[in-house]
Order: sequence, then C-alpha cells, then structure tokens
Amino acid sequence: MKRREFLIQSALLALFNNSFSNILKAENKKKHKKSKQIKKIIHSTNNTIPVIGMGTWLTFDVGHNTRKILEKIKVLEIFFNSGGILIDSSPMYGTSERVIGKCLSNITKEISLFSATKVWTPNTWHGVKQLENSEKLWKVKNLELVQVHNLVNYESHLENLFQFKQEGRIKYVGVTTSHGSRHEKTRAVMEKYDIDFVQFTYNIIDREVENYLLPLAKERKISVIANRPFQGGNLFNLVKDKKLPSWATEFSINTWAEFFLKYIISNDAITCAIPATSRPNHMEQNMQAMYGHYPDKELRKMMAQHIKAL
Ligand SMILES: NC(=O)c1ccc[n+]([C@@H]2O[C@H](COP(=O)([O-])OP(=O)(O)OC[C@H]3O[C@@H](n4cnc5c(N)ncnc54)[C@H](OP(=O)(O)O)[C@@H]3O)[C@@H](O)[C@H]2O)c1
Repeated sequence: MKRREFLIQSALLALFNNSFSNILKAENKKKHKKSKQIKKIIHSTNNTIPVIGMGTWLTFDVGHNTRKILEKIKVLEIFFNSGGILIDSSPMYGTSERVIGKCLSNITKEISLFSATKVWTPNTWHGVKQLENSEKLWKVKNLELVQVHNLVNYESHLENLFQFKQEGRIKYVGVTTSHGSRHEKTRAVMEKYDIDFVQFTYNIIDREVENYLLPLAKERKISVIANRPFQGGNLFNLVKDKKLPSWATEFSINTWAEFFLKYIISNDAITCAIPATSRPNHMEQNMQAMYGHYPDKELRKMMAQHIKAL
C-alpha cells in the first residue's frame, strides 16, 4: 500500500472509531437516564444512601462573592436534581458552611439533604460551640453526621458526640483523616468505638486503605466515605490529553471523572465518595457515576492496571 493510501485509510479508521465512540457515549447517556441510581446501605441504620456525595473544601469557600455564590447554587441544583444528598463540610473550610447555608436557602425545589460536617478544635467546649455554629450556618435543626476532623482531640469530642446522638440531636458519629495520614490511629478508633462512619482518602492511585482499613470497616460494619476521590484534581492531570480506553465506553463509562469515581464506589466496603467541584459541568459528569454499569472485580482490576501503566 502506498503511503498516501495508508494515510487516507488510517484517517478514515480514526474517524470511524471516533464517531463510533461518540455514538456509544450518547447511547450510554440514554441508558444512564433510564438506569436505577446506585445506593449503599448505612450499616448502623440500614438506611440507604446514594454513592456520590459532594465535598466543599476550597470549592465552596467563596466568601461573599455573588457571582461565585450563584455558580455554587447551580452546582447544588445539578447535584440535587441528579439525586445527590450528602454534602460534606467542616469549620476548617473557611466560609464553606456559610455558603452552603446561603445556597440551600436559595434552592426553591424540595430537597433531601444529608448534612455531614465536623468538629475541628483541640478544645472540647469549643467543639460544642462549633456544632451549634454549624447548625446555624447550614440553617438546619439537626445535623445528620458529625465527624471528628483529622482525629483532633477525638476522645473528648467523641464522648460529646455520642451523647448528642443518644439525645437525638445528631444521627451519626464519625471520624476523618486524609492524605494517607494517621492510619494507625484511625484503626485504633475503629476498633475501640462504635462509630457509624469513617472518612479517609481512597482513589485509584491512593489505595493503601485496601490493606486493612477497608477490610476492618467491613468487619466492624462502619460505613466509609472516600475523600480526595480525584486526588485533589491531580488525577485529571495524569490523563490530560489521554483518551478513555474503548473498553471503558463499552462498560458505559463516558468520562475520566466517571472512570475514577466508579472505581471507588465499586469497592464493596465503600459507602460513598465525595468529589468536590466548583463547576456545574463537572458536577454533571460526576453525578453520572451513580448510574449505569457497576464494575465487577475484573473490570476494577483492568481500570487500576490501565492507570498504573500511564
Ligand atoms: N481530613 C478530612 O476530613 C478531609 C481531607 C480532604 C478532603 N476532605 C473532603 O473530601 C472532599 C474531596 O476532596 P478534595 O476537595 O480535596 O479533592 P477532589 O474531590 O479529589 O478533587 C477536587 C478537584 O477536582 C476537580 N474536579 C472535580 N470534578 C471534576 C471533573 N469532572 N473534571 C475535571 N476536574 C474535576 C476540581 O476542580 P473544579 O472545581 O474545576 O471542578 C477540584 O480541583 C473535600 O472537598 C472535603 O469535603 C476531607
């Protein structure tokens, strides 16, 4: 075959592959719309929860900037319209809790909200104040889940939080860590206390928790929230200018966001992942991970190997 013919044939083949992949993606979107939302069980109550929630670190810390607040309202509308309910925040996240409250009071549609926030202070009395303040900022009477952020002063805070749970002031108690830190301490807390939730970092690259924290959560029936699902956004840099493998589209995965999130939520010890975004179009993509094909063990292995080989 002459070079010119070869080039024409290659271009036609690429064109065919491209349009075939676009057709598949459009078909997948239709299938997603029709498919059931993927939910998991919260072990301590047997209630179910959608597998994608939303983080608010940095993305909702926008102060009084009206343009940015309007954009956050849009992000939240897409989140709720797509079936999301869990929002994670913390007094550590600057103005995020205040912005959440402001946005929520601007959403006219009736919504289901699972409010998850944290206490983050070395002082026990201040932890109680933070909780009261969070209720005011979120404009909710009863917070669903309160977590001890990064295990700071966890013994005293947990004592108070269990008391609040008993009184019906909050529904669930948890602890958090991230970036692969404090795993030994987290393990000790999971073994000692009857916490409802634990939150730590888990994504397709940071998989250390697969060794013992995830199996322990399963054994102790503790529900797990995966933070930094995109490694703070780094995962998108890794796949920048790279196409999704064709087998991913065949398994109804349309975007890298969906690829990364589906890997996380298909681990059976994971209850939900909390990606953070400041953009409505990214929220649309992220929420797609709650629909369509649920990866099995073999597909998860292919996904992890693919990313490792990049
Ligand atoms: N110790 C703790 O308790 C702890 C620690 C860390 C995190 N967390 C929680 O976990 C949440 C998530 O972690 P994170 O915020 O660190 O990082 P992340 O969710 O892994 O990544 C967020 C980054 O990904 C980008 N992104 C989101 N969706 C995207 C999409 N579809 N396409 C391209 N880029 C996208 C965002 O940029 P755009 O804004 O441009 O979309 C943002 O820069 C936090 O917000 C927080 O609630 C808790």
